[in-house]
Amino acid sequence: MHIAVVGSGYVGLVAAACLADLGHQVICVDNDENRIACLLRGEVPMHEKFLPELIERNRGPRLQFSTDLAQAARRSSAIFIAVGTPPAEDGEADLSFVESVSCDLARAGGGSYKVIVEKSTVPVYTSDWVRRVMLLNGAAPDYFDVASNPEFLREGTAVTDFLYPDRIVIGADSSRAAAALREIYRPMLDGSYYRRENKVPEPDGVRLPPPLIVTSAKSAELIKHASNAFLAMKISFINAVANICDGVGADIEEVCEGVGADSRIGQRFLNAGIGYGGSCFPKDLLAFRAVARNCGYDFRLLDEVVRINEEQRQRFIRKVRRALWTLKGKRLAVLGLAFKGGTDDIRESPAIALVRALLRENCAITAYDPAAMGRAREVLPAGVEYADSAHAAAEDADALLILTDWEEFAALDLERLRARMKYPIIIDGRNLYDPALMESRGFTYISVGRPEVYGIRPAAATAPQRRVLRPAVAGGELPKAS
Ligand code: UDX
Repeated sequence: MHIAVVGSGYVGLVAAACLADLGHQVICVDNDENRIACLLRGEVPMHEKFLPELIERNRGPRLQFSTDLAQAARRSSAIFIAVGTPPAEDGEADLSFVESVSCDLARAGGGSYKVIVEKSTVPVYTSDWVRRVMLLNGAAPDYFDVASNPEFLREGTAVTDFLYPDRIVIGADSSRAAAALREIYRPMLDGSYYRRENKVPEPDGVRLPPPLIVTSAKSAELIKHASNAFLAMKISFINAVANICDGVGADIEEVCEGVGADSRIGQRFLNAGIGYGGSCFPKDLLAFRAVARNCGYDFRLLDEVVRINEEQRQRFIRKVRRALWTLKGKRLAVLGLAFKGGTDDIRESPAIALVRALLRENCAITAYDPAAMGRAREVLPAGVEYADSAHAAAEDADALLILTDWEEFAALDLERLRARMKYPIIIDGRNLYDPALMESRGFTYISVGRPEVYGIRPAAATAPQRRVLRPAVAGGELPKAS
């Protein structure tokens, strides 16, 4: 099928590359000329596993980049809207980009039936609005439908999440639109994509082919908001339980093992830490809260999810203070600036918020992040220093803080680290190490919801047993095209 994807951000670019990899003819459109120029030069403006390879192998007739929305719309039978929906002041999603794309699509015309697909996270009723705006701007009612096809992509594993989803949700109020979307996802639904030799590697434990859920457009819009709100609630819930563990001396990981063994709850998304961040959860929670308010329901549970999340950062600062007594003038090594491992995205990153809070306490910060330092430099004050490795950041540090769950931070050479630090103190906001191991290696180790340890013994002669983080996607390289 000929498909246009409007928006070349995280969602749009991943969707465009994956739809092309499924065999469609895709044009990815953006009105940001610099961004399109950069994509045309072969540069990929974000750190996302498998994305550069997918763009490279589909570039050409199957994947093009353009700033000409009207032309792309006219030659396409499906148009995915994947533009930004940033939060407005009152928490509601600002849909002005969606509106302006809808006007442009109506004016572009085209003379044949098209399905307009909402891919951005939008509040319920957006499909109705898009339809109304298109009609007001001259689109012929029989020549288009508006459908919702929410994405559930996590940054860092977005390509794998697109091609191996837990479910495909199609929210369509007409059978014609539902049929068009089924056709788009056919290589996944009939399993043919998964039989290809050069498919993106399959992650562990996926159900293939993915289940298809067909709903009304409104239900699909709600599925997206409700899913993100539920996941954020799961994180805040477990952080609240971790705080109780801290209070009574229990271990959150043991508690999670027991709680998550209930198949109705599950083990995933029960990692306690410094709270959630990123471009989705904080924004979507506020937007969902506003949706509820607008339809007359006071969804106060969501306020509490947000409050617990914010408090989690303050609690972490209190842990740092307790470990160091006073903060002023202390030299802190910070490992991690991205909002989570595997991405260079720092939007709403708890790590960035914590660095800012520590700078206000007059700490000296030396930070290291494998991917996010460039972006962090743009938003953090000039006084922050950046190191080119975790060990270099630790040089002469009064304490080391782990703020992002990068895999490499879970496999540090503890001997070398301790030798470089002024004091062997680690405050781990991501629970990457086993406290007993850290104690045996002579560290004061403070984490979230687990017993604090104050190691005093020098390093043992044997190699440490490090906790190994499970990679989020199947490892290995992308197979070459056959
Ligand atoms: C999220 C949703 O998972 C995805 O389905 C949606 O499409 C977009 O929003 P993303 O923001 O990329 O994806 O990251 P995710 O892996 O969900 O993590 C979000 C935040 O929660 C991160 O800051 C992460 O560190 C934190 N988190 C996640 C926890 O603190 N504990 C957990 O157990 C899981």
